[in-house]
Amino acid sequence: MLAFERKGAGLPIVFLHAFPLSHRMWDGNVPVFSKNFQFITPDLPGFGESHFTDDTASMEFMAGEVLSLLDHLNLQQKCVIAGLSMGGYVMLQMLRLAPERFRAAAFLSTRSGADGEETRSKRFANIELIQKEGLGPFADRSVQTLLGKSTLSSQPNIRGTIKSLIQTADPKSVCAALRGMAARGDTTTVLDSLEVPSLFISGEEDLIIPSSEMESLSKKVKKSEFHVLPKAGHLFNLEQPDSFHDLFLHFLKRRVL
Ligand code: MLT
Repeated sequence: MLAFERKGAGLPIVFLHAFPLSHRMWDGNVPVFSKNFQFITPDLPGFGESHFTDDTASMEFMAGEVLSLLDHLNLQQKCVIAGLSMGGYVMLQMLRLAPERFRAAAFLSTRSGADGEETRSKRFANIELIQKEGLGPFADRSVQTLLGKSTLSSQPNIRGTIKSLIQTADPKSVCAALRGMAARGDTTTVLDSLEVPSLFISGEEDLIIPSSEMESLSKKVKKSEFHVLPKAGHLFNLEQPDSFHDLFLHFLKRRVL
């Protein structure tokens, strides 16, 4: 069973974290969401306190594990599901496998396409780097792309938080997730048939998934809305938490409750 944190009561909202982090990336969002909702943040397989021992952690496997966790929690109503980046890849698999379990979806800095050749070879180069040198150099490099330029220059504490989250991950599991992401298929058809209200948010300064790509993605979903958060990169929930909370809570109020 996956490790998770659950705070608050009422409508269940499940947030899936990015690679190579853990549910701790939502720490700053817990007080706001748990005030009026049941805020559930799992550690995906191999991250945080969730163990994983195989060589490849596929997105389908991760999705199955989150669905089993939801069974175990015996939720009495449909959830809102949100996934940031790799969390979004996993969420798309969940929406493919069990769309009837969700009443809204939030796509945060994520994509539905499979990796191109260049991205795939970068993932394998990173596996080699981690196997040779551990997570230190990989963490240094990742922080530069996970955070936007405004955050890097004006919020050094966030850089430290992310770096230490990466460095405390399990190197073998980080490599397993890299293999899983490299092998993942295209899930764009899931968007075409998605019927629930869907929120798309992108950080203006995201270097990993540009806002233009997120905007095109949002156009594939019937009941979607798309927003760009200024002065934020890939991890906008940490970089600009107030704007993120406002957007998300407004979406829930207008489209879900
Ligand atoms: C993430 O933030 O989860 C990663 O950037 C996803 C990826 O490497 O494709």
